[in-house]
Amino acid sequence: MIRVTDPIIVLSDIHLNLVGGSGQVNILRGVNLSVDAGETVAIVGPSGSGKTTTLMIMAGLERPSSGAVQVAGHDLNAMDEDALARFRRAHLGIVFQSFHLVPTMTALENAALPLEFSHAPDARDRALAALAAVGLEGRARHYPAELSGGEQQRVALARAFASAPRVILADEPTGNLDTETGRRVIEHLFRLREEQATTLVLITHDRELAAQCGRQVRMEDGRLREDGAAVSPAAHMPDGSPSAIPGDAGRA
Ligand SMILES: Nc1ncnc2c1ncn2[C@@H]1O[C@H](COP(=O)(O)OP(=O)(O)OP(=O)(O)O)[C@@H](O)[C@H]1O
Ligand SMILES: [Mg+2]
Repeated sequence: MIRVTDPIIVLSDIHLNLVGGSGQVNILRGVNLSVDAGETVAIVGPSGSGKTTTLMIMAGLERPSSGAVQVAGHDLNAMDEDALARFRRAHLGIVFQSFHLVPTMTALENAALPLEFSHAPDARDRALAALAAVGLEGRARHYPAELSGGEQQRVALARAFASAPRVILADEPTGNLDTETGRRVIEHLFRLREEQATTLVLITHDRELAAQCGRQVRMEDGRLREDGAAVSPAAHMPDGSPSAIPGDAGRA
């Protein structure tokens, strides 16, 4: 059953400016997003537009230059690194674009890692069940180097949902999977959403997957808008007013 509650993720006027060799780069330029518990949101948009960066901010793995980040009732800006690590462990499952598996651990050990950190007594069994859910029960003892790219991606997915987090943030979760395997994995994520009201935020270039989500938002040039809404000329106003972006107005 899906409970409708307050938003579980709120990004308010997020800016991220980084100073590189060629001066300051404005990577995020006023991102607003509000996601309700149990919602499924696809973030789409061109390469380099800021999708991964936005996900990292939601996970407390990147700090914004300005703007507020609230996830599961926590103000991430107010938390130190230890508190953020505990927060991630308690609430989030994260699937990184580049998987981030631990190379010296088997598939099973990788999938069990968040559960071990939380001292779950049945970590191994739950991790095995998660691996089975992505079709990898036969690869549990393999190390990442002994797995194909798609298999590594599925281990990363199993690790993200094995602990039944409230929120799953996944960066191109089907990017390395064939159509059929991708479909199975996604079916599983959506089943979790049905059974546990898991909130899903997925970055994807896959139109079919994006269309399955309840909502699509498009990242362009460091800004988000609800998909389907036209970008008004005002959205490119130099004053960066977030209310100038159709669809974002009123959601945050
Ligand atoms: N640490 C950094 N220093 C400077 N620029 C960065 C840094 N990290 C990211 N960027 C820049 O920020 C922009 C957004 O990057 P991001 O990874 O969020 O894009 P993306 O939308 O996820 O792209 P893709 O679809 O290719 O994964 C890019 O132009 C990137 O070069
Ligand atoms: Mg990316």
